[in-house]
Amino acid sequence: MTQIIVINFGSQVAHLINRRIRELGVFSELVPYDITAEKLEKINPKGIILSGGPSSVYEKSSPQLDKKILELKIPILGICYGLQLIGKHYGKVLPGKLKEYGKKRILIRKTGTLLKKLNKKEQVWMSHGDLVKFFPDDFKILAKTDTCPIAAMENHSKRLYGVQFHPEVAHTKKGKQILSNFVFGICKAKKDWHIGNLAANLIREIKEIVKDKAVIMGTSGGVDSSVAAALIHKAIREKLHCVFIDHGLLRKNEAIMVMERFRRSLKFEHIYMMDASSVFLKRLENVADPERKRIIIGHTFIEIFEKKVKELEEKFPNIKFLGQGTIYPDRIESAQPSKEASKIKSHHNVTLPEKMKLKVLEPLKELYKDEVRELGEELKLPKEIIYRHPFPGPGLAIRILGEVTRERLEILKEADSIFMQELHRSGYYGKTWQAFASLFPVKAVGVKGDARTYEYVISLRAVTSIDAMTADWARLPAELLEKISSRILNEVKGANRVVYDVSQKPPATIEYE
Ligand code: XMP
Repeated sequence: MTQIIVINFGSQVAHLINRRIRELGVFSELVPYDITAEKLEKINPKGIILSGGPSSVYEKSSPQLDKKILELKIPILGICYGLQLIGKHYGKVLPGKLKEYGKKRILIRKTGTLLKKLNKKEQVWMSHGDLVKFFPDDFKILAKTDTCPIAAMENHSKRLYGVQFHPEVAHTKKGKQILSNFVFGICKAKKDWHIGNLAANLIREIKEIVKDKAVIMGTSGGVDSSVAAALIHKAIREKLHCVFIDHGLLRKNEAIMVMERFRRSLKFEHIYMMDASSVFLKRLENVADPERKRIIIGHTFIEIFEKKVKELEEKFPNIKFLGQGTIYPDRIESAQPSKEASKIKSHHNVTLPEKMKLKVLEPLKELYKDEVRELGEELKLPKEIIYRHPFPGPGLAIRILGEVTRERLEILKEADSIFMQELHRSGYYGKTWQAFASLFPVKAVGVKGDARTYEYVISLRAVTSIDAMTADWARLPAELLEKISSRILNEVKGANRVVYDVSQKPPATIEYE
């Protein structure tokens, strides 16, 4: 079934490549960089893609490619670092004097097969330091930018292809066309991967695995855990037990709304809400460091969840499985955090300890976020669940920079709630990947009525993205921003400034901490 293999050299966006290939209707898999030519020969894919990565090919510890792979005569597309690996073998790679980040324009000299159907000038997304300076004559140079002499190349007889930019990110306008040219035009892969009757298959599988036992699951109200829970519920009904922990760091009224959805829309029979906000806030007192905040929240969460599981296991001895909303990118990210990808923030999702002795049930583990959403549609889940913006596990704690206090939480909840209301009202909620307010722990001088104020700064962030690996700031209309800002300044006590964040990821991240 696997037709395309993506070799991961540690790029933050490596799995996006995989995602894009599946979107083309072709099943692809991501494998670690140390895969051998022999193993690849056994899999016998129709094509191989070498991902980007944060290293420089000449660094001693940089991930290298088994050279024999280049000689397999299976078409290979090198992306960014992947192109440099081909360049190191056949040409010359130089440390780029001018690093390129973000949107760039390429000039196309020849389209060849790889750039078929592209215009003379196209917008691409670059993120590199080094670049390939030279390839021998049998390599056709297809495109360049003002600072990068080889932005795309192909060598049909050696079955080698490459681009310096990232075709997998949405900001490369014709990225999908390029990948399609490679997958269909060059590799001759067949379209055979469909979400189609996936739901029915997954429900059947869950029934076969769980049999007459019961499943316990932590649900946050987010898309992944809700779709996973809904799927498991369709398979085993009242044998699903859901635990929802309110850590006090959720949006305004969020806990109540999430419980409503579980009870009314999803009709879960066993749902246990635990209000643990005072424990979390107590433990976060005087803690300003982002990583410490994340660790405290993660550990406290596990502790409370474990206690509840124990209690329920005694009451319902047939609980033998732990349901989780793990999706494909979670597994890929946590499988090789330090080997290739450099660590930016500590693990996004709480991994529950092995000592729980429950068998893990992860029905979404092969799927990407968009596929999970499609599945949610198939299960007829409410749109508010399927299209809810991602919300980080540590919640508002990482949107209050520095120490989390009750006062700061209240201010942020109010400001954020106004922002959300106006986004929904204007239709911009659905046009952005994620939007939220944050509180900066500095105070600015202002004037309200005739009095001087000395209050917090609220930052609004709205981004467009696909899978959150790269993001651009959303171009919200000025009138909308004006309305939000004036409502926050008038209605929220404790904030006298509103700023709008115009940072792209990379180099920024979506969240502040
Ligand atoms: P960054 O800030 O790394 O975020 O650009 C990328 C995406 O991940 C979300 N995020 C988290 N999600 N637990 C989560 O479940 C976390 O600890 C966490 N931290 C960040 C973030 O909201 C964005 O969608």
